[in-house]
Amino acid sequence: MFTKRLDRIQPSATLEMTAKAAELKAKGIDVLNLSVGEPDFNTPDNIIQAAKNAIDNGKTKYTTGSGILELKEAICTKIKRDNNLEYNNSNIIVSCGGKHALYNACQVLFEKGDEVIIFSPYWVSFPDFVSITGATPIYVKTIASKQYEPDFTELKEKLSSKTKGIIINSPSNPTGGVWSDEAIKKTIDLALENDLWVFSDECYEQLVYDIPFKSIATFTNKRDKVLTFQSCSKTYAMTGWRIGYTVGEAQVIKAMGKLQGQSTSCPNSIAQYAAIEALIGNQSQVLEMANIFKKRRDLIVNSLNSIKHITCDMPMGAFYVFPNIKFFIGKEYKGNKIKSASDLSLLLLKEKFVVTVSGDAFGAPENIRFSYAVSEQTINKTMERIESLFSLIK
Ligand SMILES: Cc1ncc(COP(=O)(O)O)c(C=O)c1O
Repeated sequence: MFTKRLDRIQPSATLEMTAKAAELKAKGIDVLNLSVGEPDFNTPDNIIQAAKNAIDNGKTKYTTGSGILELKEAICTKIKRDNNLEYNNSNIIVSCGGKHALYNACQVLFEKGDEVIIFSPYWVSFPDFVSITGATPIYVKTIASKQYEPDFTELKEKLSSKTKGIIINSPSNPTGGVWSDEAIKKTIDLALENDLWVFSDECYEQLVYDIPFKSIATFTNKRDKVLTFQSCSKTYAMTGWRIGYTVGEAQVIKAMGKLQGQSTSCPNSIAQYAAIEALIGNQSQVLEMANIFKKRRDLIVNSLNSIKHITCDMPMGAFYVFPNIKFFIGKEYKGNKIKSASDLSLLLLKEKFVVTVSGDAFGAPENIRFSYAVSEQTINKTMERIESLFSLIK
């Protein structure tokens, strides 16, 4: 009944877990939801006020398809200030979230016969963005103990004349890994040598805790084939507002605008005005949120490592940890065999009402993703529940 195109993609595993958590909560159950991919903070007041002003001033009509000029100018200011990148308005398109921006770029650049490199573990949506275009995702392993940097031997092996693009996501969802300068430089050099499109998904750029963040485009002067994707969602706790943007060479940006004009017309007008305030207004809350996340990260990593048979590397960014739970696969709980990370994640949900996302969804069958966009109290309660459950797995 439906098109083959639809068969090429999967429902979002993370959104599915969020729906499961909401269902249990509605039944009055004390759910601990660590599956969330969004900050638990409210959107800062100055941003909310800017949106209210936009409504009061009648900024409620269609805008230019690729975003209002004032927002593009604000993005140019922001990327110069935070990322040391110099671009002008013709290099910017605003979309309905970073997800929409990435989707559009894949539609514009990839098609049947093309191969696109994706590093595993990967954000759940990358393979689907590629597959829906007809192109083939090619997975390259990364090294957990090295912030999930690429296995360069495998990367070189997997590059072919069909390779058209490469998707980098540092800091990463699901691992929180942040690549070193050396790893980025090596990847960029390989990509440029092979004339690839480089997608840099930088939606967690402001959530890097131990080293300064460097935008991937700053690693080369040959930026024509480098597209930078950023978003207001995570940085400004604006996930529901749906504003993300792409920065890149003017012709590609124009092509993305052509597609966007025939799909969503334009991003939400009110959210665009709010985004201007977010990007060039007071930034103090960004740092405050990052400091809170860092404290929670330290707490959750230390707590997980103190639970027998779990190992968790210290991620340098985002708000996820990705512990290895391999020990428990093949073991039994009350006579039932745990066959996969998904089984363990479901067991946590059923027995302890702890919501996580299994690594299977991210191409990592020995891991489970925990988001620490929750209070320290929730982290502590979660760890107690995990410990009491896991001690019974034999
Ligand atoms: C790696 C990554 N990229 C992009 C996005 C998209 O975010 P948004 O569409 O809200 O900007 C997300 C959201 O979870 C993400 O984790």
